[in-house]
Amino acid sequence: MVCLGNICRSPLAEGAVRAHLDRSGLDWVQVDSAGTGGWHAGEPPDHRSIAVAAGAGVDIRAQRARKLRAADFEHFDWLLCADRSVLRDVRAMAPSSRPAQAALLLEWAGMGDGAEIPDPYTGGSEDFRRVWAMVDAAAAGIVERLSAGRPSS
Ligand code: 4NP
Repeated sequence: MVCLGNICRSPLAEGAVRAHLDRSGLDWVQVDSAGTGGWHAGEPPDHRSIAVAAGAGVDIRAQRARKLRAADFEHFDWLLCADRSVLRDVRAMAPSSRPAQAALLLEWAGMGDGAEIPDPYTGGSEDFRRVWAMVDAAAAGIVERLSAGRPSS
């Protein structure tokens, strides 16, 4: 799960996917999150993300922000991006041997072509609630898609 700062959207996406995975029994799936920028590296998620996840019974307090690294392209089958700008940056960071594994998170989850998760960083708690609703619905779609089988790429 990749966004810009790894403190608002992708920690929520990681928490939502982890919660859905826990219920699904897909024990081969590994989920993590990162940002294309490293400004908040080492920090816990934004307090507004922590609060909205806690309201849904999901504890994301132990997460720590980090910047996307080259090894992520080797380790993970898919890098699911919050918006087009993040997707563009992720593709630019990709080694030429692994160019095709980045996608829009909501699109990959079956929630519509080109659908993006808006950046709530400068917004209010309503924006964070909207992001949670998006990633929670997407997590269901992601787990359903993964249930169909392990990616071959
Ligand atoms: P995120 O939100 O990409 O959803 O984590 C942001 C957090 C921090 C910044 C930008 C977006 N920032 O510029 O510091």
